Amino acid sequence: MTSQIPLTRDPTHVRHGSNIGQPLTRRDGVLKVTGAARYAADNHLPRMLHAVMAVSSIARGRVTSLDIAAAKRHPGVVEVMTLQNRPPLAGDPDAKPNPFMFRIEVLQSDKVRYANQPIAVVIAETLEAATEGAALLAPRYETEAVRIGLDDAESFVPPAVGFGEPATVQHGNFESALASAAHRIEATYETPTQFHNAIEPHAIVAAWDGDSLSVDTPSQALATAQGRIAGLFGISPGKIHIRSPFLGGGFGSKAIFSGPQMLGILAARLVGRPVKLVLRREHMYGPVGHRSPSRQRLRMGTSGDGQLAAIDHHARVTTSTFDDFYEPAADVSRSLYASPAIATSHEAVRIDIGTPLFMRAPGEATGSIALECAIDEMAEACGLDPLAFRLKNYADVEPISGKPFSSKALRECYMQGAERFGWSKRPLPPRQMRDDDGFLVGWGMGTAAFPALMFAAEARAVLKADGSGVMETGAEDMGQGARTALAQIAADSLGLDLDQVEFKAGTSDLPNAGAAGFSSHTATAGDAIRSAGATVIAKLAELATSDKRSPLFGAGNAGVVARDGRLHRRDDESRSESYVDILKRAGLAEIEARGKGARDPAEQANYAMHAHGAVFAEVKVDPDLGQIRVTRMVGAFAAGRIINPRLVQSQLLGGMIWGISFALHEQAIIDHRSGRVLNGNLAEYHVPVNVDVPHMEALTIDEYDPHVNALGIKGVGEIGITGSAGAVANAVWHASGIRPRRFPVRIEDLVNPASN
Ligand code: MOS
Repeated sequence: MTSQIPLTRDPTHVRHGSNIGQPLTRRDGVLKVTGAARYAADNHLPRMLHAVMAVSSIARGRVTSLDIAAAKRHPGVVEVMTLQNRPPLAGDPDAKPNPFMFRIEVLQSDKVRYANQPIAVVIAETLEAATEGAALLAPRYETEAVRIGLDDAESFVPPAVGFGEPATVQHGNFESALASAAHRIEATYETPTQFHNAIEPHAIVAAWDGDSLSVDTPSQALATAQGRIAGLFGISPGKIHIRSPFLGGGFGSKAIFSGPQMLGILAARLVGRPVKLVLRREHMYGPVGHRSPSRQRLRMGTSGDGQLAAIDHHARVTTSTFDDFYEPAADVSRSLYASPAIATSHEAVRIDIGTPLFMRAPGEATGSIALECAIDEMAEACGLDPLAFRLKNYADVEPISGKPFSSKALRECYMQGAERFGWSKRPLPPRQMRDDDGFLVGWGMGTAAFPALMFAAEARAVLKADGSGVMETGAEDMGQGARTALAQIAADSLGLDLDQVEFKAGTSDLPNAGAAGFSSHTATAGDAIRSAGATVIAKLAELATSDKRSPLFGAGNAGVVARDGRLHRRDDESRSESYVDILKRAGLAEIEARGKGARDPAEQANYAMHAHGAVFAEVKVDPDLGQIRVTRMVGAFAAGRIINPRLVQSQLLGGMIWGISFALHEQAIIDHRSGRVLNGNLAEYHVPVNVDVPHMEALTIDEYDPHVNALGIKGVGEIGITGSAGAVANAVWHASGIRPRRFPVRIEDLVNPASN
């Protein structure tokens, strides 16, 4: 694997201070590789008990009996928590006061709504005793017929999809535009149920002290988690202290506080001792979210010269019987390609499964594989090269909103990615290339895009008498490197070196850093940090410039710059004063300031904000056996200012690997009679391993976006998966001549395509 991102000297990569733009390794990397990093489940408190969930083996019905006595007789078992003795809650776990608060199962009913739903919790002196106790419960059920497929229930139009987006959006008249199109295609694609599968399962260590609660648990959104616990237990958020210094992945599944985590807190309440509850791997396939399956129909038409005239993207998705989250699969067609007529719509069915949740580019990943395959097929219908077709049709202005993009380097992504990949040597028809071993070789591409989102965050900056700094924000590091990238922003905002700044993150008592999700964390928390740093520096400058004894006297706030622990006059940098001297003369032990990070509503009103990219893939297909291998991939991405090129490359490559996974590997197989996940483990739920991940390169294209936020940051967490899955699928077609219609692509789809 190539490990170089070309670091150009373009302005977006010029060092902002001495830290932003540096390809630093993760600051917590050594802790992680030596095993010294303490993840939630590594905590062990005095007198702590172990809790293990018993989960439902049916997907719909009612629990009629549990052999609680047998479990309790087991040596070491202290208590069995069920519907009957679960401590009371002040809030209703089935209430839904806002669209992003999800209903959770915390033993409030004997009803079973999906397979692997928690039905009891066994609490014991040891993990073994709790595990054995849970096995002795021997649940009996009343079962009802299970609805698990996309066609198993009546469909309806969801009230909203994704993050409150309308289910149906259109402009122009699709049907008439299609009717008068010179070239047309129509295709239907199916994507499977997927599970997040973070390496670290959800885990919690909970300890009550009166009505104060201390919690070690992985969280992508600490303040949200704190608020959720506070609401359910009727205590003030300030009484709840959550530590989440390290996460072993999240992918969206740790963005909400889940039922099993709440059960750990309830178990500790019940027994009056600290309790540790760690999900077993198989428990991860039910109560902590998944990605909905989809069936997507794409219809498109172009003029005779290959200009898009009409796009229709309709997606059918699923949600649970008791809650609402709708994968916004068709949304991607609202902003990527220009067309005078665009129609996008969703319908949904309720099935007997846990509630789906945001997962690795929710909507964009699912929708872009279908859209990119359809675009490829449309290019073929027009007799055009897929790159030429995209260059002709990508949107310069967001087609439905009519807003220009705040900046857009997509054309550069196409050109530089294609150049690096060698795309110009690609024969137009499929099945033209073979390698020395006789394998069919195919090249495909896809367009990548992800909204540049910002939510709200806060940070607190401190400058101390010794000249060092502190930056505090409750940021979460899922492994993506937030602690490092945000500390780089912190150091520059304070005009200090990284080792002079204590960067505090990962606990709920720090200022709310918002969520590590939606590819928005660096932009949002980073903006709060920048603002807190700028404000504390302004305070320091005020102290100096208003003091006759300072060499900076009279320079005014606008007239100084902070660098290397000193303030310098902007007009005469030889005149400067150290932070230490300024604070000493003022007799202050420290000064502090808070800052907020948020989107700018005026900019949002005027511009569409996206990161963009282009991905190119090579696959080899065994002509006899249908086996597919990705052998090469190049992605080129424009994502605004790059805070840390090493970490960004890692994020982009990770996303591209998930794209391979979406196209060729991932799939939960659910038994339609029982509603159970048949491959609910990491051995049978396939994800790419090293041998599946070829030579890959992620290039970053210089892009300066003055509108997105003060630092010009866009997200890189999820964009890599978009475009990549489609690129692999299109390469499969170019190798084999067969258009994939369902994902992951199976061997039998290539060997015997008529059978699917
Ligand atoms: Mo993500 S799916 O925003 O963690």
